[in-house]
Amino acid sequence: MLKIALIQFEPLLGNIAANIITVRELIGRLSGAQLVVLPELASTGYHFNNPEHAISLAEDPGNSEYVAMLTDLASKNNQFIVSGFNEKSKSGIYNSSLLIGPEGLMGIYRKMHLFMHEKEYFLPGDGELAVYDTGHCRLGMQICFDYLFPEPWRILSQKGAELIVHPSNLLTQNANKVLPGLALINHVYIATTNRIGIERDLEFNGGSMILDPKGEILVKASASAEELIEYEIDISLAHNKMITSMNHVFEDRRPEQYKQDIC
Ligand code: ACM
Repeated sequence: MLKIALIQFEPLLGNIAANIITVRELIGRLSGAQLVVLPELASTGYHFNNPEHAISLAEDPGNSEYVAMLTDLASKNNQFIVSGFNEKSKSGIYNSSLLIGPEGLMGIYRKMHLFMHEKEYFLPGDGELAVYDTGHCRLGMQICFDYLFPEPWRILSQKGAELIVHPSNLLTQNANKVLPGLALINHVYIATTNRIGIERDLEFNGGSMILDPKGEILVKASASAEELIEYEIDISLAHNKMITSMNHVFEDRRPEQYKQDIC
């Protein structure tokens, strides 16, 4: 069994030092989770004033107190931690998700589908859709608005992901409609951690959840409270890719029929 923790909280915009203290304290309250999932942009907050504000808060993961704190906890607790992160690189900044394990930083996913004003701050991710083996599970990463674009979820699942972790800063109810379908059509677990709170004109709506490979919601947080959810899943249930006794989620695809001119 794999115990997953979703940490639904309110990051403070522009206050990395305060968010470090909060996240450290919240992870310290968990009891035995092997995998911890934090929201999108958990160290900086989301609704930047302008591109300069977003850039001023971006960090190199190799030189970040926030990442150092998570790395220290992952090592001490023998845990895997996934967190949204405002990532500075040579070419610009990315809305990223970091996977940190007991041995340190294992992987970075850069959000491919940018929402609204994110397009003014961040570069769209163009990296590989990687699946990471933690020993407990094979996982892939997506971030928030990516949920409206099904292709990467399919690719991660076809590459062997059993669980897709999904740090988020959700604002609408659309994910509630779409995530069960993404879990079902790929027969994968999904762990979505959303944030709560208000930043200027944006109100985030919580509802962090874990979905099983049948698309059922196993556990769901409230819309507006800070919550620590710890929930055990049987990852082996993601290995059964049969929809019926005669239908397989991947093998029944018709890729040769999908190559049609849609331009
Ligand atoms: C979003 O992608 N943060 C809505």
